[in-house]
Amino acid sequence: MKPRDIVVIPGDGIGPEVTTAVQRILEKAGAPIEWQTYQAGLTALAEGSEVMPQETLDAIQHHGIALKGPCTTPVGKGFSSVNVQLRKRLNLYAAVRPVRSLPGVKTRFENVDLVIIRENTEGLYSGVENEVTPGVVMSMKVASETACTRIARWAFRYATHRQRKKITVLHKANIMKLTDGLFIRCAQQIHKQEYPNIEYNELIIDAGCMRIVQDPAPFDMLLLENLYGDVVSDLCAGLIGGLGAVPGANIGDEHAVFEAVHGSAPDIAGKGVANPLALLMSAVMMLNYIADQHSDAGARKIATQIRNAYDQTLEDGCKTRDLGGELGTDAFADAVIERLG
Ligand code: NAI
Repeated sequence: MKPRDIVVIPGDGIGPEVTTAVQRILEKAGAPIEWQTYQAGLTALAEGSEVMPQETLDAIQHHGIALKGPCTTPVGKGFSSVNVQLRKRLNLYAAVRPVRSLPGVKTRFENVDLVIIRENTEGLYSGVENEVTPGVVMSMKVASETACTRIARWAFRYATHRQRKKITVLHKANIMKLTDGLFIRCAQQIHKQEYPNIEYNELIIDAGCMRIVQDPAPFDMLLLENLYGDVVSDLCAGLIGGLGAVPGANIGDEHAVFEAVHGSAPDIAGKGVANPLALLMSAVMMLNYIADQHSDAGARKIATQIRNAYDQTLEDGCKTRDLGGELGTDAFADAVIERLG
């Protein structure tokens, strides 16, 4: 792998714990990464900056890639989400979240293998809200043809490159006829005009959720607008053992930020028990992204080596508590390092 500067944002809550563990594994695997540490979230605020400091955004723009820990967002009050700001300001329009069954982690279903593609810049999740009059508030759901077409094309292109067979759009266009209606129309059009060989179907999201939890096997890729993608990601995490095992990437045309699906988990922060696997899997996605973008076969080799090591670790029964094991964050990282080969 060619040497490379990568921005790292440790984040809040369990963020610094899992980030340190992942950096340690990448270093032991021989990834020649020069980490450029920047802050965001409550940690940045405590240091006297904004929650989303301009210098952090500038650094990501400059280096192109970041690995990010979770950032806390206050519920029902306070500042607006760091993640929403980051994704919108860097135009990281595609969230990619692979959800797969893991060796040694027994759940109700075997062989779950889904990829969630979430539109990352529009919809109710943008949090564009205001008070109309005391006691009456409103939230704006915006959908644009440009963003809906862009995410649909991105999803179909991903399906083609990764030999995926089918895309299912989950929507509520029976009720939100204009916004979700536009989302499905754009997806239909891209399917028909550009990717007719990929199977395509649509489900109303409520019934779709029920079908996924009854039997995920018929599903391959899910394409959703922003808020639905947020909710369904956690639902799918529940199919394979929980949030400790679902990675993610936020990808735009020029930059990419890799982060786990989970949040800052304040209930377990500072206890040394958080599972670093989801962020480690996100780092593997990052290495594969580097391999694809920069024809860097060395990055792919290290990604595969780490993936084999954590699969073997789980298969050997070395797991953190959220997955039914007993290891803490550092002990799990040590177990992966021992198996790097
Ligand atoms: P959460 O994902 O932080 O936690 C939900 C549950 O899963 C908790 O019981 C937690 O202990 C457990 N969990 C999460 N990650 C884990 C890990 N790696 N290992 C073991 N257990 C894990 O979701 P919650 O509680 O809804 O949100 C907490 C904060 O995180 C909020 O401020 C929220 O806004 C923020 N958040 C940030 C995200 C990001 O920065 N990308 C994503 C989701 C939430």
